[in-house]
Amino acid sequence: MTVDALAGAAYIVAALLFILSLAGLSRHESARSGVIYGISGMVIALLSTLALTIADAWGGSGSTIGLVMLVVAVIVGGAIGLWRARVVQMTGMPELIALLHSFVGLAAVLVGWNGYLAHETIAPELVGIHNAEVFIGIFIGGVTFTGSIVAYLKLSAKMSSKPLMLPGKNALNIGALVAFLALTVWFVADQQLWLLIAVTLLSFALGWHLVASIGGGDMPVVVSMLNSYSGWAAAAAGFLLNNDLLIVTGALVGSSGAYLSYIMCKAMNRSFLSVIAGGFGIVASGSADEDYGEHREITADAAADMLSGAQSVIITPGYGMAVAKAQYPVADLVAKLRERGVDVRFGIHPVAGRLPGHMNVLLAEAKVPYDIVLSMEEINDDFAKTSVVLVIGANDTVNPAAAEDPGSPIAGMPVLRVWEAENVIVFKRSMAAGYAGVQNPLFFRDNAQMLFGDAKERVEDIIRAL
Ligand code: TAP
Repeated sequence: MTVDALAGAAYIVAALLFILSLAGLSRHESARSGVIYGISGMVIALLSTLALTIADAWGGSGSTIGLVMLVVAVIVGGAIGLWRARVVQMTGMPELIALLHSFVGLAAVLVGWNGYLAHETIAPELVGIHNAEVFIGIFIGGVTFTGSIVAYLKLSAKMSSKPLMLPGKNALNIGALVAFLALTVWFVADQQLWLLIAVTLLSFALGWHLVASIGGGDMPVVVSMLNSYSGWAAAAAGFLLNNDLLIVTGALVGSSGAYLSYIMCKAMNRSFLSVIAGGFGIVASGSADEDYGEHREITADAAADMLSGAQSVIITPGYGMAVAKAQYPVADLVAKLRERGVDVRFGIHPVAGRLPGHMNVLLAEAKVPYDIVLSMEEINDDFAKTSVVLVIGANDTVNPAAAEDPGSPIAGMPVLRVWEAENVIVFKRSMAAGYAGVQNPLFFRDNAQMLFGDAKERVEDIIRAL
């Protein structure tokens, strides 16, 4: 059997392992095996590619330089990846992911350019298809590249998370798409270098504008949408490189990312089409600085008293729990309360934190039992029958304005209805707004009290007082 045939078979095995990995990752219980399938698939894919390059260098048309470059790239890239993954804080994960997507986009652009500058002889009847692949690959890659860089800048607060509102922004986006289609037809008919330069610049500008036009509250969808784009960019590169595994993997990432974006849009009551079209049809509403009155404060001792007398407690964690790394004391607090017969559960908003499943990962890390961690739909009707809700570092995801104020920038986004409980204790450091930059009227409700300070320290204070 030739190395080519063996590598082809190995690619099919790797593709199957990637599918099993996605299936595994969809449930807590099977997530660990999902990760193992994914790693195994990637090892098989890398070894097969290495074998192909070695065979090419020693007996085929390839060169030893290609082989050396591949090995060096894998070692350097692998080392940087390993180092980043080890040092990244859980809170820095979304921006790291956004940055990684930008590499996929850039790689697709480079593969596209390479497909134009240095391709093997192509049968005349396939030249048109090849050129269309080059053009489309560069376009998708370019949009992914700059779009992901803007997402990275917004998520790491290096750029304002407010939507960029250029006049006629929808016309700009549609105009760019029409120009892309026209340029593609032109390029297929006549392969001029300047057309390739034009589509590269056009895709960079469109990617930048699409993501810059999306407001803070919609960023979660943008990250998963860019994940999807990066998949399609990889699939486009797969067509150009004639690599089946890249096509299959790209399509898996592309379609699962698109589906995740769709689910998140539904969870946030946003229009999917509007978000993928760069905030199409969204008008920035002025968030009036309304006066909600005075807030009340509570001490950790008083909070401990309230919790000891409670029958049922729901904890709704958010981004602040991740910042404070409060999941470990929170897990201890839960164990203590459960020992005393208090019914404790968690209510997890689908976009709490900064990446899908953020809170679930943190709680699993702190060994909180899965069966008391419930989703928003599962728990939302129970707040009205709950003695105490602990809002730990969450803000936008528990904001009543989303449900009650049609003029709010987050209007219509389903939220955890914590204000229906008998008592609400909000753990945060100040009265500052959350990610969407909107004031939260919950903090001024009669049944709500603020417990100011770092969430980890305050939870530890409560444990001591208990
Ligand atoms: P946010 O609305 O982001 O609010 C987090 C709160 O935590 C802040 O108000 C902050 O208040 C507090 N906080 C920060 N550090 C703290 C600490 N050390 N101790 C105690 N509190 C601390 O949180 P959320 O409710 O989880 O909502 C998530 C938001 O992020 C949504 O708007 C969502 O759309 C967006 N987003 C989500 C994702 C995904 S996929 N989950 C991705 C990107 C964006 P202080 O500064 O006063 O402490």
